[in-house]
Amino acid sequence: MINYGKTFIITTSVLCLSIAILSEAQPYMMQLDRWEVLQPSIGISAMHMQLLHNGMVIMFDRTDFGNSNISLAGGMCRYDPSDTAVKFDCSAHSVLYDVASNTYRPLKVQTDTWCSSGSVLPNGTLVQTGGYNDGDRAARMFTPCGFSETCDWIEFPQYLTQRRWYATNQILPDGRIIVVGGRRQFNFEIFPRADYRSIESRFEFLRETTDGSNENNLYPFLHLLPDGNLFVFANTRSIVFDYKRNRIVREFPEIPGGDPRNYPSSGSSILLPLDETNNVDLEAEIMVCGGAPKGAFSGVKNGRGFARATSTCGRLKLTGANPSWEMETMPLPRVMGDMLLLPTGDVIIVNGAGTGTAGWENARDPLTRPVIYYPFERRFSVMSTASRPRMYHSSAVLLADGRILVGGSNPHVYYNFTNVEYPTELSLEAYSPPYLSFTSDSIRPKILTSGKVVNYKTLFNLSFSIAQFLTIDLLSVRIVAPSFTTHSFAMNQRMVILKLISVARDGLTNSYRINVLGPSTAEIAPPGYYMMFLVHSGVPSSGTWVQIE
Ligand SMILES: *[C@@H]1O[C@H](CO)[C@@H](O)[C@H](O)[C@H]1NC(C)=O
Ligand SMILES: *[C@@H]1O[C@H](CO)[C@@H](O)[C@H](O)[C@H]1NC(C)=O
Ligand SMILES: *[C@@H]1O[C@H](CO)[C@@H](O)[C@H](O)[C@H]1NC(C)=O
Ligand SMILES: *[C@@H]1O[C@H](CO)[C@@H](O)[C@H](O)[C@H]1NC(C)=O
Repeated sequence: MINYGKTFIITTSVLCLSIAILSEAQPYMMQLDRWEVLQPSIGISAMHMQLLHNGMVIMFDRTDFGNSNISLAGGMCRYDPSDTAVKFDCSAHSVLYDVASNTYRPLKVQTDTWCSSGSVLPNGTLVQTGGYNDGDRAARMFTPCGFSETCDWIEFPQYLTQRRWYATNQILPDGRIIVVGGRRQFNFEIFPRADYRSIESRFEFLRETTDGSNENNLYPFLHLLPDGNLFVFANTRSIVFDYKRNRIVREFPEIPGGDPRNYPSSGSSILLPLDETNNVDLEAEIMVCGGAPKGAFSGVKNGRGFARATSTCGRLKLTGANPSWEMETMPLPRVMGDMLLLPTGDVIIVNGAGTGTAGWENARDPLTRPVIYYPFERRFSVMSTASRPRMYHSSAVLLADGRILVGGSNPHVYYNFTNVEYPTELSLEAYSPPYLSFTSDSIRPKILTSGKVVNYKTLFNLSFSIAQFLTIDLLSVRIVAPSFTTHSFAMNQRMVILKLISVARDGLTNSYRINVLGPSTAEIAPPGYYMMFLVHSGVPSSGTWVQIE
């Protein structure tokens, strides 16, 4: 249909095709990719987001910057003598959003969650760690329940061994969570802590990668590797880290170009899909995109203006003998972009700005057009335009229906909606990639089995229906861990492509049953809830939740 070549493609939200059969030479309007505003206001700015396995998204901003635009339930109020904005606050700073009904309700969080981190436990309970002020050593839990029920945050204010402000979390193969770094924290700790005397473990790599006053290595990028070690990227450097023995297993070359990639020079990072369909050793590959040049943050503060964002991405295969970065150039330079894996295994980079850095009032030139990167073809497409800027404190998550949910943007100390160039955003918007177009519906699989438990290295059956099944060669089964997204990094996000053993017709018309092998190890897919997608000829089904154990 479109001859892409090795160039950047600008797609518009509406593509006009002439379909002669329908009406002679009359253009037939077809939407390929599109944005829609789901809620003009959810009352808070979605600074942090996590999709839960019951289809709800938990969102929160911070408790210390004034009254939000939604009240706590039941006339409750919060009194916090250490709050820097309002000590007596009857507004909510967290909401639970139900994707299916597009409704939300306020949640009660008591201590400050600003710039915190999170991971979902294998049993589906969200553990969120740290924040600021009275919340900087808090651990908080949220166990999913039905929308009309009353589940809410449970807080443990002094749980952590250290303050964790701008730390990153990763779920581990044994179901525990590692919490790494934070401002002035050159160490890590494990949740749940072993006992009350637990102390943090030193991690000098974070001290070494700090530029000036804690710049450019906050929210380090963490990815759990198939060998059980952690990939850690901070500033321009990256390592394989054996957290069990607290030692660096190997260090990779610095990412070329010298531009830092972590907060406030916030780029983003993903682990490309782990493919178990081949019998050869699993290959792990990291991709890091965007950021801002060294000195960009202090440059804004010192009146030197807003530096142009970084336009490069680096890809690093970790499993080779001599790993080296392969660089790509994005069609649009971007800082504060969110990188997310689409069910197809392609990468969307959404939100952010063209100049400046993370931090209050620090960016200009909002980028309202996402790009999609096709890893096999090494090609980017520029997609259609969102309705609002999403800069500092915006976030994005993949939904089970294949859309990208986008919210937040709060580039000011307060909830400023007027008198500012980029108002604090309380809206939620969803992006539908081209694969959701109805023109693909005839080849879109529909998963008929739900609520599955999938065991490691164990065969399971999955039924699906499809109008037009092409061939098994074009079919794949993928599991995607939902991310905890904040500050341009989707923590815990990963995709595993499972080994497909066989496909058989299921008697009924257009219905098939496939036999699939569960993931090999908990290092490849830590236990917990994943969205399972069938992808047929580049067109994904809706995701269904499975529990890997
Ligand atoms: C705050 O909420 C009210 C309705 O509850 C809405 O009319 C208004 O637009 C919201 N303000 C912002 C800035 O979103
Ligand atoms: C999951 O485990 C945590 C920690 O043990 C516990 O607090 C929580 O209630 C559990 N959640 C569910 C849904 O059982
Ligand atoms: C932002 O909001 C705060 C608190 O309401 C207010 O004091 C400040 O003047 C506002 N800033 C602007 C530029 O309007
Ligand atoms: C999958 O389906 C086949 C054919 O009906 C059956 O023989 C097999 O036992 C099933 N496997 C599992 C794990 O349920």
